[in-house]
Amino acid sequence: MSQEINIRPDLSKEEKYEALIPQIKALISGENDVIANVSNIIAAIKHTMNYFWVGIYRVQIKDTNEELVLGPFQGPVACTRIKFGKGVCGKAWEDSKAIIVDDVNQFPGHIACSSLSRSEIVVPVFRNDKVVAVLDVDSTDLSAFDAVDKKYLEEICNILSGVL
Ligand code: SME
Repeated sequence: MSQEINIRPDLSKEEKYEALIPQIKALISGENDVIANVSNIIAAIKHTMNYFWVGIYRVQIKDTNEELVLGPFQGPVACTRIKFGKGVCGKAWEDSKAIIVDDVNQFPGHIACSSLSRSEIVVPVFRNDKVVAVLDVDSTDLSAFDAVDKKYLEEICNILSGVL
């Protein structure tokens, strides 16, 4: 099992993701602890892509309702619970699809965990066609995320689906 991520910083975004995904698979192989594996996947994304905040929210039952609850992340402290349909995370859960926000100030209902965050992508994690978590990535730059991030973060969400 590899416990290092080696990706050259001069690679393009696409090349970094291409190099990252097999290394993520190697990183979690042979380990079945959920927190250990999710924590390492999040750290691998954060330190390869250098985005401001990377983390997951899991769908959890509270009383009789489901809501998103903060899971392993890297970056500044964040809000712990998000309701269905609320913020970018809750909307990606409600719509069961990835959302790219070029400017968080233009997204109605955006939940500002940090005033430094300016753009965001949220990608659902599915199991048996149901959203079980979302992967949230924030940047301090406007329009930091594009179809390349969506494609590869969806691949990483498929890996997370098998881990969670
Ligand atoms: N901005 C998110 C909340 C989570 S933080 O960005 C970490 C949202 O609007 O759902």
